[in-house]
This record gives sequence, C-alpha cells and structure tokens, in this order.
Amino acid sequence: MERLIVKGGERLRGEIDVHGAKNSSLPILAATLLCGGETVLHNCPKLSDVDAAIKILLYLGCDVKRYEDTVIINSDSINSSEIPESLMHEMRSSIVFLGAIISRMNKAKLSFPGGCELGPRPIDLHISSLKKLGVTINEEYGTLDCEAKSGLVGTKINLSFPSVGATENIMLASVMAKGETIILNAAQEPEIIDLANYLISRGAKIKDAGKSTVIIEGVSELKSTEYRVMPDRIVATTYISAVSITGGDVLIKDVNPDDLESVIPVFEQAGSKLKVYKDSIFVSGPSIIRPVKNIRTMPYPGFPTDAQAPIMAMLTLSSGTSVFVENIFESRYKHAGELVRMGADIKVEGKVAIVQGVEKLYGASVEATDLRGGAALCIAALAANGETKINNIGHIDRGYESIEQALGRLGAKIVRE
Ligand code: UD1
Repeated sequence: MERLIVKGGERLRGEIDVHGAKNSSLPILAATLLCGGETVLHNCPKLSDVDAAIKILLYLGCDVKRYEDTVIINSDSINSSEIPESLMHEMRSSIVFLGAIISRMNKAKLSFPGGCELGPRPIDLHISSLKKLGVTINEEYGTLDCEAKSGLVGTKINLSFPSVGATENIMLASVMAKGETIILNAAQEPEIIDLANYLISRGAKIKDAGKSTVIIEGVSELKSTEYRVMPDRIVATTYISAVSITGGDVLIKDVNPDDLESVIPVFEQAGSKLKVYKDSIFVSGPSIIRPVKNIRTMPYPGFPTDAQAPIMAMLTLSSGTSVFVENIFESRYKHAGELVRMGADIKVEGKVAIVQGVEKLYGASVEATDLRGGAALCIAALAANGETKINNIGHIDRGYESIEQALGRLGAKIVRE
C-alpha cells in the first residue's frame, strides 16, 4: 500500500497549473458513447477515476487511446450494453454511463452503485427521470436492468433536488431522444455547462445549461469533435488552501475564477490575499489565519461540498472559531477525526462541525477516508510540526494528479512511499 510522507513547515512558493476537471471529464467520457464518431478530448486529467471510466469504454467495445492529457475515443465499435460489477465498483459515479448507454443501445444493464464513503448515495432521481423518458427499469439483486423498447421520448422532468449526476444522466439520455426535454430544478454546476458545451460541439441542441431550467431538443445524430475539459475548480481550491495554510506565495494557473466565486470570499475572510486575473490567481497566505464564522455547503452557486474538507484543514490553524454546516452529504466529516489526531480541535454534531483554531498541528499517522478528506490531510500536514504519514492514498489519486509532485514543485517536503 502506498502512502504519503509529509514533513511540515515549508512555505509554498512558485507557480502551479491546475489540471482538467474530474467531474466534467467523467460525464464527457460517458457522452462519447452517445453516437459513433471520434472525440479528441484535451486536458483530460490522469486520475484513477478517469482510468476507471476509460476501462468501461474499452469494455463496451470503444477504441480509446491516451497521449498524455489527450484522450481519443472512437465509439463506432461499441458492442455491449452491460457494465460488470467489478468496473461499477471501481468508481461510484459510473452511474452516469447509464443515460448514455440506454440512449445508444436502447438497453443497459449495470450493478447498483451502492453506498459510498460519503454516506448513502441514492440514485432514485436518476431512475425516476429515466423512467419518465421511456425506460423500463427492473431492479433485482443489486442489478439495474433497463430497456427502452420504443426509444427515448422527451418530456418535462422536475427534480426534487438539483442532483448533479441526475441532471447529467437526463442530459445524456435526452440529447438524442425524440422531441423536447425540459429539466426543471436542474443542477447548475460549471461541470454541467462543460458537458453541455461538449455535446453542443457535437451538434446537440441544449439551451440554458447552467441555469435552473434546461431545454434539450433531441437530434438524430452527433458528429465527431475536439474538446478541451474545463479546469478543476476543486483542485484549484485545494491548492489555494495549501498555499494559505503555509503562508506561501503562489501563482495558480489555468483556473476559471468565475467558477470560484463562492470560495474566494472565504479565503479573503481568512486573511489570504488573492489577485484574480483572467485565468490565474496569485495567492499570498496570511501570517495569522482568521476564522470564518459560517460556511454552509449548498448546490452551485453556493459553497461546494467538495471544498469543505480542504478549507476545514486550513481553518484548524485559525485564531478563533469557524463553523461548517454540511447540507449536501451525510457522513462528510470523516476527515475531522483524522485532523483531530494531528492536534486539531473539531467537534462534529450531525450536519455541524465547529472548528476551534489551535496554535499548532503535529505530524501523525492518519488515514485518507475519502477523496477530498485525503486532500485535507495533505493540507494540514504541510503546516504540521514534524512528519505526517497519510495512508490509504488511493482515495486522493482518484481526483488529484500526483499530488506529491504538484506540491513538491512548490517546495513542500512530500514523498510517496
Ligand atoms: C457530484 C460530484 C461530487 C459532488 C456532488 C455535489 C461528480 C462525479 N461528483 O456527485 O464530487 O460532491 O456532485 O456537488 O460529479 N441524491 C439523491 N438521489 C439521487 C441523486 C442524489 O438523494 O438520485 C442526493 C445525494 O445523496 C446527495 C445529494 O443528492 O445527498 C447530492 O448528490 P448529487 O448532486 O447527485 O452528487 P453526485 O452527482 O453524486
């Protein structure tokens, strides 16, 4: 088992590029299945979740080649509509393949993704929406057996919660359905816009992606395309947290500052100085980190749940009390217990976490419990006294391209063992 060894105390300095977004690469890779033809996808990050998505494409019969961060997918030769359980289990978000497979093959069979490290992760909204589009779904022994005998037909779908994955699945299933689909209370995350822009580059007709009501007019074919994935806004947030906790000075390049509108004020309240340019941000960390009173995770454009753990790590060293309210996922405070092992003072009660700043963190042996929680431990370790060993780093590799190399280039003492 690999682990990260971090010797804390170095101020981060220099420049760093943010890689492409995991959360838009995955639905875009699924979308390549919708119609034959070729997609040349640039800025596609080298992550284990992306590898898992590519394995699914290969299993289904696609031709996939990777050259550094460019992935070329040709789905002319797709010959299966089933994803085996072993591949479904490699990545929970593989449920996003369902809408694309059913659209292309009029049937799909995959295992139920089940719970995950963030607590139960139901897919009821995915299922009820696909049913509305004309899919019959049999759920038996943990398998979803889906069929759309007469093809998919556009309709109006009102989501009871703006689920990112359900919105993506509806978009994928409706882009080539007959007629018009209207999604009400759709998720508005930037990754939804990125997926729509990719589909539009192939000739799809999608209006108002990124707004609460999205209108999709089905088309009968999609063409080949070349597309660049958006920068990863959560990786950018993680780097800003890392620079801030070490009091460093770093130019973070290849970011879209508009996507960070809800997190930038939090860093400013904490005392970081951010100079925002068109596609980069210069961050100067504070000498004393100030607490942030109230951070509530919300669907976009609210504060992102994925940024909660990295920013909590930064605020463990603040000069006062910070309060978090996690409104999106249950069980999303598992990193808190590990941060406490490093000397942090965090009390969790249900949705609320109260972080009382401490003067020092101390190196310890800790476990990455999930992707962003693992990144939070790296951030804390950068500022801790002594050496931190972070185990179970497979979670971190799902969403960060060689985090030790990225932070190492900025002067952090961090190695993979
Ligand atoms: C996506 C992101 C994840 C991010 C999350 C919220 C990807 C690959 N992952 O996850 O990083 O943390 O958005 O921004 O893009 N829910 C239901 N029923 C459903 C679907 C969701 O109850 O059918 C609930 C979930 O349990 C959760 C909430 O809705 O409590 C948000 O989930 P959702 O927006 O669907 O997140 P994901 O798409 O899984």
